Parts: sequence; structure tokens; C-alpha cells
Amino acid sequence: MEKKKRSSFSSRIGFVLAAAGSAVGLGNIWRFPYLAAKYGGGIFLLVYLILAVTFGFALMITEIAIGRKTGLSCIGAYKSLDKRFGALGWLAALVPVIITPYYCVIGGWVMKYFFEYISGNGLALAGDSYFGNFIGFADGGLLSTPLFWFLVYVLVTAVVVLLGVEKGIEKVSKVMMPVLVLLSIVVAVFSMTMPGAVEGLKFYFIPDFSHFSIKTVLAAMGQMFYSMSLAMGIMITYGSYMPKESNLERSVGQIEIFDTAIAFIAGLMIVPAVVAFNGGSAEGINAGPGLMFGTLPKVFEKMWAGHIVGTVFFLLVLFAALTSSISLMETVVSIVGDKLHMGRKPATVAVTVGVCLLGIPSCLGYGPLAGVELLGMQFLDFFDFISNSVLMPIVAFFTCILIGWFVGTKTVSDEVERNFPFHRKRLFEVMVRWIAPILIVCILAGQILDVTGVMKI
Ligand code: PFF
Repeated sequence: MEKKKRSSFSSRIGFVLAAAGSAVGLGNIWRFPYLAAKYGGGIFLLVYLILAVTFGFALMITEIAIGRKTGLSCIGAYKSLDKRFGALGWLAALVPVIITPYYCVIGGWVMKYFFEYISGNGLALAGDSYFGNFIGFADGGLLSTPLFWFLVYVLVTAVVVLLGVEKGIEKVSKVMMPVLVLLSIVVAVFSMTMPGAVEGLKFYFIPDFSHFSIKTVLAAMGQMFYSMSLAMGIMITYGSYMPKESNLERSVGQIEIFDTAIAFIAGLMIVPAVVAFNGGSAEGINAGPGLMFGTLPKVFEKMWAGHIVGTVFFLLVLFAALTSSISLMETVVSIVGDKLHMGRKPATVAVTVGVCLLGIPSCLGYGPLAGVELLGMQFLDFFDFISNSVLMPIVAFFTCILIGWFVGTKTVSDEVERNFPFHRKRLFEVMVRWIAPILIVCILAGQILDVTGVMKI
């Protein structure tokens, strides 16, 4: 049934922009810089880049090809390739269900920052304890709580999903995205020239192998899946909309470059500045989910016309976040709608209620629920960990096994080679059959040994 009504992107560029719109979001601007700062700077960057052009490439081409070949979204697609892998589609579908609620919590933080800038409170945001007080619910009034902003953010996302105005959003993103890139470059240049930033640049660019551990690879791999929207069925769905005659390999290359470039620039905006504010030393940086919110307002405070730059910047980040959360929620709505035979409206309402309920613990996790920890993590970090470091590697592993050992890499390469040569075919085959699965097993095993305390890594 799904097949008959399949809509399609009108052009290859339309496809690339839509996929890049889903890929570029908070993952690039909020998540990548804090992970880079946390996991040793240059060494994280290096591991990430290597993974992106090998593993990321192989997995993205696999997912888009599966989607285009079967014309189905993930739940049906895995099953149609091999009945025994039907459960994998469900597991992949579970990932957006876990990510959407906490993604909206961060989206709410961005919205609050935008609101404060536009109301002329930029100076307050640059204060040392502002962010901590905000997420800690120490600020009193309703308008100041993360819960309020989370609910507003979920509502905005839900209204767009309900109205289905994707077309409008696509048009706006075509303008907003380039502006975001330009503005990020301006901010990055400014942060790089701050006194003390040179140490930060060194930290970001020069890999220090003594900072390397299995955790670096696990974090970089999780980030790569997250940022490129891989191992969660999204690219399969997008692939199912891709015109048969377009060049699949080239599109993947472009999405990859775009996504990685934005993450790289975001790192340049934030990492040197954090080091500069840390007295010019990369030692003891306390990098976590609050990094962007704590550091950037300080940078803007030092810039000429910083309040205007801050306002525009948070508006653009808000926009990048919204385009991503809309596609996340849209995915969940279509799964719920299809499987529970619900119309779009009731399905959206049900998903919105679910997102609100699931998001509340993440939202309160740094404030009223600060005492509650899961595996030593706050709720938001826990959900982030389960999806990025556990579920996505598992989905990626079985996808590689399915393609590499059950249905054969030819299934994918034939689809890629419909009208064009497949330049990186050997790389793809070796990655999917051997390197990627072995890498994932080693990393997950190391992680389990670490968490259970058998062996510290
Ligand atoms: N890739 C997005 C980011 O980096 O922010 C997150 C994401 C958006 C994942 C949309 C999945 C998705 F459908």
C-alpha cells in the first residue's frame, strides 16, 4: 500500500538538500563541539573524520540504496530484504522515539536563548552561572523554566507536523542554511582570534594520542550516526523517495561533506573560545551538554554588535533544530499512524503527548530530579547514551551483517550502479563485510567491560 502512493523528490539536488536538512541540526552545532572538547580535541576530530569517510559513507550508501530499492520505510524495508531481519526495522524505529523527546528539551533551551537575546538580555546570558541556574530551575518564574520552553518547542514542532507544511520549511531552509553557514564562519573567525585561542586551536587540530581510548572511538562513532541521521531508519525512508535515475554515490558524498563541514566549523566556533575563557589552557575543560550555551554568549559579549549576532545566531540554530525535530517527529508519527492504523491527526496528538511525557524527566534531570541517576548519568545523558552508544551501533551492526552476509553487497551496489559507476565500491564492500562489524563488536565489548567494571578502558 505504501508503495503506490510513494512521492518522490523532483530532483537530485532536492533530495540532497532535504537529506542534509535532516542531517544538519543540533548534532552538528551543539553535540559535536562538546564531544570534541570532552574527548581530547584533535584526536576526536581525526577519529571522527576517518569514520565519516569510511564507515559513515558505507552505511549511508547502504541505507539510501535499501530505501530506493525497496521503496519502503525501515520497518517494511528490512523485512522485505530478509524476513528474519524484520525486528531490525523495529529496533531502528525505536531510535527516533528515544531521541525526539530529549532533542526537544535542547530545542527548548535554544528557544529560550533566542527569546532572551531578542528581549535584550544578552549580557545576562553571558554570566557564569546563568545556564546552570536556568536548567537547574533556580530562576523562579514560569517563563524562565526549561519545562515551559520544552513544551512550547514540542508544540511548535507538532503544529508543523500536523499542518504538513514541509514545502514551506524546505523553501525557508534553502535560505536559512547558507546564512547559518556564513554566520558560523564569522563567529568562528572571531573566536579563533581571541586572546588565548591559539592553545585552543592547537588542541582542536593537533591529535594527542595519549588522549586516545576506546571511548573516543565509541563517542565518535555514536556522533557520526547521530549527525548523519544513520542507523535509525531515516535514510532508508529518504532513499525511498529518491528518483531512480539520480546519482546515489554523488549525493551521499555531498550530504557527508555538508554535514561534516558544519560540525567542523561549529567546533571552531566553540572549542578555541572555551580554551580562551579557560585562561588559554585546554586542561580541565568541563565539557558537557551545556558547552554551547555557556560559551557562545560570552563570545558574543566580546563581539562588535554581539547582541545582534547572538539573536541571529540562536534564531538560525533554532531553525536548524526545528527542521530536524520536525523530521524526527514526522518519522515517529508515520510509524505510529501506519502500525496503529491511525489518521495523521490522532497519531500526531498521541505522539505529542508521548514526547511531552518522555521528555519531562530529561527536562527536570538537571533541576528537581538532579538526584536521580541512571548508570551514573542524568536522564538526558542517559537517553543520549542508550540511543547513540548502544542502539545505533547494534542497528548498524546487523544492517552490515544483513547486507554483507545474507542478501549480499551486490544488492546495494547494483542499486548504486543503475546509471552511474560506483567509484568507492571496494571500500564499501570491505567496510560492510569486515571492518565495520568487527569494529562495532570490539567497541561494544569494550564498553560493556568498562560499564560492568571488569576492565577499565
Ligand atoms: N542528524 C540530526 C542532528 O545532527 O541534529 C539529528 C536527527 C535529525 C536525527 C533528524 C534524525 C532525524 F530524523
